[in-house]
Amino acid sequence: MAKGLDVGTMNIISGKQDDSDTVFVQQRNSFVEIEHSDMAEQMLSRSDVLHIRKDDNVYVVGDDALNFANIFKQETRRPMQRGILSSDEKSAIPMIKLIIEQVAGEPDYPGERIHFSTPADPIDSDLSTLYHQKTCESFLSDMGYEPEPINEGMAVIYSELADNNFTGLGVSFGAGMTNICLAYYAVPVMTFSIARGGDWIDEQAARATGKPVDKVTSIKEDGFELDFKTDVGGVEGALAIYYENLLDYVIENIAREVDDEDVEEGLDVPVVVTGGTASPDGFEKLFEDHLDDAHLPFSVSGVKRADEPLYSVARGSLVAARSEEEREKPQKSQPVKSSNSNGNPSSNGNSSKGKSKSAKSSKDKNSKKSKSSKKQSQ
Ligand SMILES: Nc1ncnc2c1ncn2[C@@H]1O[C@H](COP(=O)(O)OP(=O)(O)OP(=O)(O)O)[C@@H](O)[C@H]1O
Ligand SMILES: [Mg+2]
Repeated sequence: MAKGLDVGTMNIISGKQDDSDTVFVQQRNSFVEIEHSDMAEQMLSRSDVLHIRKDDNVYVVGDDALNFANIFKQETRRPMQRGILSSDEKSAIPMIKLIIEQVAGEPDYPGERIHFSTPADPIDSDLSTLYHQKTCESFLSDMGYEPEPINEGMAVIYSELADNNFTGLGVSFGAGMTNICLAYYAVPVMTFSIARGGDWIDEQAARATGKPVDKVTSIKEDGFELDFKTDVGGVEGALAIYYENLLDYVIENIAREVDDEDVEEGLDVPVVVTGGTASPDGFEKLFEDHLDDAHLPFSVSGVKRADEPLYSVARGSLVAARSEEEREKPQKSQPVKSSNSNGNPSSNGNSSKGKSKSAKSSKDKNSKKSKSSKKQSQ
């Protein structure tokens, strides 16, 4: 059985098939450095918190980093920035390696296929994604997997547009980036990214209102809606302004890039939006309204939001991995749907119901999420 892995700036998520369910394991892509002390030692030894000790410091990694940061009055740090490994973070490599190992788990057999998401090179900055991609690839091969990168936008197409022959425009609004892919019968016609996403919205809104970025992020994630009835002068008002600005920026770039690609005349495609930043109520309506106002060289038959915006990329990567596995068998050529079981669960490693086992540092959350993703049979 193959696996899918979404390596995101804020969340790292794996997906695998367990009979007719897709099981996800998730960790926040962040960590905190705390000084080693008896109290810290005691707290850590009594828990299943993901951590490593190095010299006189302890690094708490993943979902628990935020709690420890609050208790020990430290800032959380992030191994990735703007979609790729952060060059400003000296501990980026060991921290992300640990998170990937925990989220992906051991391969069920040597050479198990894993497709991991990687962003397209951004068109609005000179960042290159190659080093990031090759580094993730080498972590996974060292673990015993056979890794294959998949473009994040293409993963969205695999995950959300199976019912439309894998044809349409997929847009993943993440934390560090926005990834865009236009595909025609599972063939990518245009893929690119923009080095702006939820983090950019938070930074801009924080700067405008004078509030700390963490505070702005938590207001945004806690029931913020894009209804434009809110709070002129407050944080929600500022968030709405920068959300709208990001959407316009993305649409402007789509129009420009599609023009360069010379797409077929009369093309009429569905659009799917996903990623954590697409979560607030009103997001897809706002995107649709702004698309209507733009002059695109193709028409849009509708805009929908993925049912589970945080899991689309992991799910699509899994679809691609399983599809590749099928192809190796040699018969089928179309991508398979993620929730159709295509064989026996593997025999060893993470053992069967590995959901909470490999999700040890955030059991409640992960088991809930696994459950909520369970009945996704298509
Ligand atoms: N309910 C919510 N409302 C608004 N924003 C949210 C919500 N939940 C998460 N987010 C935002 O979504 C972003 C994380 O989304 P996601 O996990 O898709 O990104 P990522 O894949 O880690 O990043 P990237 O693809 O850019 O590397 C963050 O900016 C986070 O603040
Ligand atoms: Mg992402």
